Amino acid sequence: MTSHAVAFAPGRANLIGEHTDYNQGLALPFAISEGVTVRARALLERRIDAVAVDLGKHDSFSLDAVVPAEGWRAFVRGAAGELMDAGVELSGAELEISGTVPRGAGLSSSAALEVSMVLALLAVSDASAPDRLDLARLCSRIENDWVGAQTGLLDQISSLFGEPERALRIDFRSLDVRPVALELDGCKLVTLDSGEHHAIAFSGYNERRAECARACAELGVESLREVTLAQVGELPAPLWKRARHVITENERVEAAVAALERGELAELGRLIDASHASLRDCFEVSTPAVEEAVARLKGAGALGARIVGGGFGGHVLGLLPAEAPMPDGALEVRPGDGARVSGR
Ligand code: GLA
Repeated sequence: MTSHAVAFAPGRANLIGEHTDYNQGLALPFAISEGVTVRARALLERRIDAVAVDLGKHDSFSLDAVVPAEGWRAFVRGAAGELMDAGVELSGAELEISGTVPRGAGLSSSAALEVSMVLALLAVSDASAPDRLDLARLCSRIENDWVGAQTGLLDQISSLFGEPERALRIDFRSLDVRPVALELDGCKLVTLDSGEHHAIAFSGYNERRAECARACAELGVESLREVTLAQVGELPAPLWKRARHVITENERVEAAVAALERGELAELGRLIDASHASLRDCFEVSTPAVEEAVARLKGAGALGARIVGGGFGGHVLGLLPAEAPMPDGALEVRPGDGARVSGR
């Protein structure tokens, strides 16, 4: 039996393509170097003992009766529960969790936790890992069914498929993942904290997802990927606005891929700004603190700046030219490797 394993899974930034994943749309995220590490040691007893080092908290439960819990514990129990539901013979384990990705900031600390937890438990149980897309789906069930956030697959796919120097063009209808070179000609991608933090399950995220589902039901389609702007005009408010954001955001993702391929960074910046305006005005997920953070990045000379992740607070992302000063508190983010396990 493998007695020790260390799993690391990164958070992600999303260049463009927000609230498109659960609408079978397009996005262009990348894994960042910050993430969550889970150190696991096998136990002979069928028990999980977990310590969240950064929080100074502890959880312990039997693998014979995994009951749901709140907060970070929901992720640990969900990981064990989903793996066993998928037929994995889990061994007991001692787990030590620590992280470098800010929590509740829109940089996907949740997916980093789910993915690192699942990989550590698989490794220490000597079980073979499912393929990466199945792993992403399993991790998203932890979030949907144990944590209560009806999120899509954006974060888990980014964390599992990340590559240095590349963003990932993800098509959530076909689940095709295509790496796209992120050559920024000296520009930097930076994130800035709006100071407002959220637990996604309790923000308006689930409500937005339900509104998109209602828009589909009204139009008699399976997803907003099938809909044109002309059709959206028939919907009542606020559904037409939500659908309008999704359709135009998919177009912006394709335009951003083309701009990157042509090295047109001013155009990329313009698309990032347009994405933010649409998230603010049509999807209505911005807040005054987020607007202030976007204005700070734009004031520092950003070619584009926008909210990232689910919204309602968190970090904003900006594309800063080489000569622009880094605003106080800004953190440069670069595309890094996807999740990995060592020690087995
Ligand atoms: C959160 C969710 C993702 C995605 C984004 C918005 O990060 O976890 O699935 O929906 O919000 O693009």
